[in-house]
Amino acid sequence: MLRSPPPGSTTIAEALLTVDNLHVYYGGIHAVQGISFSIESGAIATLIGANGAGKSSTLRALSGIVPAAPGSRICFDGQDITNAPPHLIVAAGLCQVPEGRRIFASMSVEENLLLGAFARENVSRAELDHVYTLFPILAERRAQSGGTLSGGEQQMLAIGRALMARPRLLLLDEPSLGLAPLLVSEIFRILAGLNQTDGVTILLVEQNARKALATAQHGYVLETGRVTLSGPCAELLADEGVRRAYLGE
Ligand SMILES: Nc1ncnc2c1ncn2[C@@H]1O[C@H](COP(=O)(O)OP(=O)(O)OP(=O)(O)O)[C@@H](O)[C@H]1O
Ligand SMILES: [Mg+2]
Repeated sequence: MLRSPPPGSTTIAEALLTVDNLHVYYGGIHAVQGISFSIESGAIATLIGANGAGKSSTLRALSGIVPAAPGSRICFDGQDITNAPPHLIVAAGLCQVPEGRRIFASMSVEENLLLGAFARENVSRAELDHVYTLFPILAERRAQSGGTLSGGEQQMLAIGRALMARPRLLLLDEPSLGLAPLLVSEIFRILAGLNQTDGVTILLVEQNARKALATAQHGYVLETGRVTLSGPCAELLADEGVRRAYLGE
């Protein structure tokens, strides 16, 4: 069950998501070591960091896919969702586009999209058409099996599937992975549009730090499970250490 925060708790008024002291363990591996951050409603935030820094683990804990250790607290839209069942988290409006896309290979494009709406009772044709408007290639391929789509098309399908859940907060794990530069720009353009036009709040995890910092307003740098730096993206882009470590300068 989702729980309301205890009286007197310190939820930031305008924050849609507040993460407080999040820890994730895999057996003896302490992958996320007490990170705290918040995302304002309507914002785009990004989590950047090297391989193994704990970015995916953080997103998985937010979605309820891996357990958050005792003492961790995740608050979404005023409700404590720490370790809530994943389907209730999706129903509350927090949806993830997972690393590696996780398309259902033998199902059609349209069936994959409809699965995105599993937590909802009524799905209208207009909602499917909205996704097809955003990603016209998916409309052309609607009857094709998901597994035969190209990498870029699968990424679009994964984003479209998440949109079918009508997210208020969209978590994206490496949406640019393996895509050609033109397609990366297209995906980021669509994400910015979703944010501005549809008001979807976004948490973006990216290896492509330059693109992520150019798209988001606020960024967090994760190193071996800890937030070591955070601030407005313009400041992070100007930071010597960030430029050397993540922008290859
Ligand atoms: N299921 C698992 N079992 C054991 N260890 C895991 C598991 N998943 C992740 N880890 C470990 O936790 C740490 C953080 O992994 P995570 O996938 O969160 O990193 P990441 O920042 O997303 O990295 P990348 O940029 O490579 O995707 C790594 O050391 C990883 O080996
Ligand atoms: Mg990852």
